[in-house]
Amino acid sequence: MAAPSDAPSGPVLITGVAGFIGSHVAEAFLAKGRRVIGVDSLDPFYAESIKRRNLAHVEAAANAQGPDRFEFVLADIRDADAMREVFGSRRPETAVHLAARAGVRPSIAQPALYADVNVRGTSTILEAARLAGCPRVLLASSSSVYGNSSRVPFSEDDTALEPISPYAATKRACELLAHTWHHLYGTRIACLRFFTAYGPRQRPDLAIQKFLALLQRGEPLPVFGDGTMSRDFTYIADIAEGVLAGERAIDRFGLRTWNLGGHRPVSVNGLIAAIERVTGLTAAIDRRPLQPGDVDRTCADPARSREELGFEPRTPLEEGLAAQWRAVEPHARSHA
Ligand SMILES: NC(=O)c1ccc[n+]([C@@H]2O[C@H](COP(=O)([O-])OP(=O)(O)OC[C@H]3O[C@@H](n4cnc5c(N)ncnc54)[C@H](O)[C@@H]3O)[C@@H](O)[C@H]2O)c1
Repeated sequence: MAAPSDAPSGPVLITGVAGFIGSHVAEAFLAKGRRVIGVDSLDPFYAESIKRRNLAHVEAAANAQGPDRFEFVLADIRDADAMREVFGSRRPETAVHLAARAGVRPSIAQPALYADVNVRGTSTILEAARLAGCPRVLLASSSSVYGNSSRVPFSEDDTALEPISPYAATKRACELLAHTWHHLYGTRIACLRFFTAYGPRQRPDLAIQKFLALLQRGEPLPVFGDGTMSRDFTYIADIAEGVLAGERAIDRFGLRTWNLGGHRPVSVNGLIAAIERVTGLTAAIDRRPLQPGDVDRTCADPARSREELGFEPRTPLEEGLAAQWRAVEPHARSHA
């Protein structure tokens, strides 16, 4: 989609910049010549060393663009003073709010922590953006807000959402906060519902990254249920393109929700077969009972984001898996 001439071109503040999606989104903005201010607390959900490596990728991408393209701010999104200071002094034109406690299953063990980081953190970001006059915010939401909806594919028009995990409920709460801030202050806000992002630097708790690491070590892959549970896997570069398109489009809407998903759900069994083809390795399976909080399937209705964002997830699953496998196992080039 061609960018209109008044497309945003100023600095972008990205929370969660040291994470999986944040580091890729930062690189995508840098590649467009944008200056990026990245905020992250390097929280202990997974190893700080992985997050530092993600940051090193962003710094390398920034250095390739020229001096002073990227600034990292170590701070917690719940720290209202720190957020006011960073928004007030850097004056971003757009905030991309990705920092969160992610993960469905751990949210069942720590519901209050998830509410605190995700809901309080998001209201702190929205308020800091408002006070600094930052006109637009792109929020990371999730396909999990659809719960176990039988209305498939999942459409943004569906308002009867019934999240089935604390994590999903916090993401839905963030969307409601977006509505409130837009109503009260006119902040332009895009709620981007990501559908299972995968690719290099994927979080270590997510299925593909976990499966690749286990395969590499010759260990069995845990499969919850009979393996028919399906997910709409969406390659990270396609997700990052969708975020950029959301920034360009949100001014026309003021407040809008978009699915960023592939519309080609793959079962866990299908995923494992694809991983075997890509890696050339054979997986042993460790069957486990279904986990509470996991939805049966996710499947994005792509119509709205296709029409309004020009969003088209282009990367075929095996191509994306091959790129992720190369990042996990640099010597695996013969198969991938
Ligand atoms: N990965 C997916 O498939 C997926 C799907 C749907 C939605 N999402 C959402 O996308 C966003 C990014 O997900 P991800 O997979 O990159 O996760 P991630 O855990 O890799 O990244 C999140 C980042 O936020 C940071 N963070 C956490 N708490 C913080 C706090 N209090 N203050 C400042 N920084 C904090 C973490 O250190 C981390 O670097 C999250 O909002 C997540 O809920 C992800």
